[in-house]
Amino acid sequence: MAFAILETKGAIAVLTVNNPKALNALSPAVLTDINAAIDSIDLDTVRCLIITGAGDKSFVAGADISAMVHMSKADACAYSKMGNDLFLKIEALPIPVIAAINGFALGGGCELSMSCDIRICSENAMFGQPEVQLGITPGYGGTQRMARLVGAGIAKELIYTARNMKADDALRIGLVNAVYPQDELMAAAEKLANKIAKNAPIAVRLSKQMINDGLALPIAEAVAMESNLFGNSFETHDQVEGMSCFLSREKPKPKAVFTNN
Ligand code: CAA
Repeated sequence: MAFAILETKGAIAVLTVNNPKALNALSPAVLTDINAAIDSIDLDTVRCLIITGAGDKSFVAGADISAMVHMSKADACAYSKMGNDLFLKIEALPIPVIAAINGFALGGGCELSMSCDIRICSENAMFGQPEVQLGITPGYGGTQRMARLVGAGIAKELIYTARNMKADDALRIGLVNAVYPQDELMAAAEKLANKIAKNAPIAVRLSKQMINDGLALPIAEAVAMESNLFGNSFETHDQVEGMSCFLSREKPKPKAVFTNN
């Protein structure tokens, strides 16, 4: 059985984490299969990726506690690195990634969602970093991305208390962008992905790169980087087509296949 299922639907792809017996917990085998599924995405044609969990109860219920129970310090370090390397790959994927969170997003599940560009969730979603209850810390980027996304004060409260948070609270603190009834979540995710996929792919990719890279830089360096990459969006098919169509009041046709010109 594959622990990650990749389905391509035109210009978008859906990756389903598929370990429902353990609420999609991220065992080493699950991480390996997600990694392989990500590597198999055809980045020449796919313009937006959605990540979700199998079933209607859980997105991902965390790292696999049964795999961690007897780990040594060195094993735990390696297991953390395995997750962190994968989540860095997802974060740096050239195309936007939407987390469609269909239930529990706890520990490594919340961390997986935070490595995505955009998070939307179902009304039954539940978020949290429960690690300190288990006597460990978050280990797949939770201490870093949570603080960057919602601010250090709220991140510290959530991580120190290990409390779970419902969808409406996640919306209020800006952890998710929108909440939908469970049976509408995937349609909403696909609508959002297709809206992104209709835009000029080089410009979308450059925008992702600018936002991600710029957040780690002082503002003067960040805007200098923006000027350079803004320049890179010119002399492309989509810039010439997009601007001339605007001026002639026609509808632009972004290139079907990703190329640099
Ligand atoms: N690891 C391994 N197995 C898990 C799991 C996990 N993170 N979460 C759930 N499961 C398994 C359960 O053991 C159970 O298996 P069995 O049927 O074989 O007993 C099955 O999934 C169903 O779970 P429950 O019976 O517990 O379902 P529930 O509806 O009563 O509770 C839940 C759901 C509140 C999510 C509960 O399962 C739970 O608290 N899970 C653990 C959540 C957690 O602590 N996550 C953080 C893990 S640590 C981490 O992620 C570290 C890191 O950053 C790297």
